[in-house]
Amino acid sequence: MNAETHIAERNAHWRDALAAQSANAAKVRPLQAEGKLRRVVGLTLEAVGCEAPVGARCMVAGADGAQLETEVVGFSDGRLLLMPTGEMHGVLPNARVTPCAGVSGVPVGDALLGRVIGSDGAPLDGQGPLLARERVPLRRDPINPMARQPIDTPLDVGVRAINSLLTVGRGQRIGLFAGSGVGKSTLLGMMTRFTDADVVVVGLIGERGREVKEFVDHTLGVEGRRRAVVVAAPADAPPLSRLRGAQLATAVAEHFRDQGKRVLLLMDSLTRYAQAQREIALAIGEPPATKGYPPSVFAMLPALVERAGNDKDGRGSITAFYTVLTEGDDYRHDPIADSARAILDGHIVLSRDLAEAGHYPAIDIEASISRVMPAVVSKDHMKAAQRFRQVYSAYRQQRDLISVGAYQKGSDPRTDEAIALYPHLSAFLQQETDEPVSLEQAAEGLVDVARSGAA
Ligand SMILES: Nc1ncnc2c1ncn2[C@@H]1O[C@H](COP(=O)(O)OP(=O)(O)OP(=O)(O)O)[C@@H](O)[C@H]1O
Ligand SMILES: [Mg+2]
Repeated sequence: MNAETHIAERNAHWRDALAAQSANAAKVRPLQAEGKLRRVVGLTLEAVGCEAPVGARCMVAGADGAQLETEVVGFSDGRLLLMPTGEMHGVLPNARVTPCAGVSGVPVGDALLGRVIGSDGAPLDGQGPLLARERVPLRRDPINPMARQPIDTPLDVGVRAINSLLTVGRGQRIGLFAGSGVGKSTLLGMMTRFTDADVVVVGLIGERGREVKEFVDHTLGVEGRRRAVVVAAPADAPPLSRLRGAQLATAVAEHFRDQGKRVLLLMDSLTRYAQAQREIALAIGEPPATKGYPPSVFAMLPALVERAGNDKDGRGSITAFYTVLTEGDDYRHDPIADSARAILDGHIVLSRDLAEAGHYPAIDIEASISRVMPAVVSKDHMKAAQRFRQVYSAYRQQRDLISVGAYQKGSDPRTDEAIALYPHLSAFLQQETDEPVSLEQAAEGLVDVARSGAA
């Protein structure tokens, strides 16, 4: 048999296998070719004697008869490079490796509402099996940018500082930049409960396992949970599982968007997603580039983020918030933060100074921006927001002088006005975690605060 016929036969074989798989995606149908495990280094397994495309599933026979699920992450010199999607133990040298046909589907549907699932789609909440009949592929192409509906409707997230000064549009993708412990999870929790959305999908990726329970039980609460789907892949999950967790959360959000629902997708965090890809890429030999991140990381970020947004006919939408961890609280020198800022339609920066001063939510208004705000709010609202920012900045710029008493009252009318107004502005930006503030209330409040200075 010559090489061409061989390839043609292989392709036909894969095509048939894929067709069979999509007919019954839940079933695993092994291909004939079997390989052997030759090497295991860290989390990378090397198999010889079988062929499968990148992204395909392979089962590796374990010592106790169990099957370990792996995914093809690369190949080299006739060897398939595999990574486990779950825990890896009991793997023996020369173990049998069986490629499975098709891509692994994940469960979607209304049955997921109120549930907490792992990155493999299996329930983690002990509330019985998932009754989701529909399955979709984990990875999907984003909607053609030319076919997308533009962002033109504001979305009420129930947080005054955001609704008034950083108004979010339906279908917008925003980064939430912050160091550790300054209130990311708390702010996401407020939005989960208050946002005017049909479905909320929360991806908890690479965070502490303890936090998953805390988020579900306390932050989300019974009320918030009813319309929410939580996908959890905590820090101790293997990198592939963390990567898939983020993709699964996105796939679940896409499913609800396809049904015409307004979806809020919260991903905590995009940085851990990038770090999972870094672990995988480095393990299979991709050279590191910026700060140890290989180039593939910077290709994976937009591929994930671009899946959110409005759909073609403007019925369904995914408005997404991605948290981005900032090393040493400086988001300007972090390659992931830098890349995220470039691909997202706005960023909200949380400041440690504000958090330490007990100012919550600790949103740094000066450093934050919503790029779609002018397209979704009225001219008056925009004007009031600009005025608020001007007065607020005037105070912050002179803050050091004012606090040591070096500013002479009367030397600059703008600063005098800012000093008089600042307590009101600062109070306006703060909010309790259990009191939602609607878009309308926030806009009215903003106009009042801005007007009080003009009077
Ligand atoms: N809106 C708020 N009101 C009062 N306290 C808050 C608020 N937000 C955060 N805090 C305080 O800050 C602490 C840390 O908040 P949170 O867990 O939300 O931060 P985080 O940025 O998610 O932290 P990590 O980086 O550890 O995940 C909370 O335990 C709480 O004490
Ligand atoms: Mg947190």
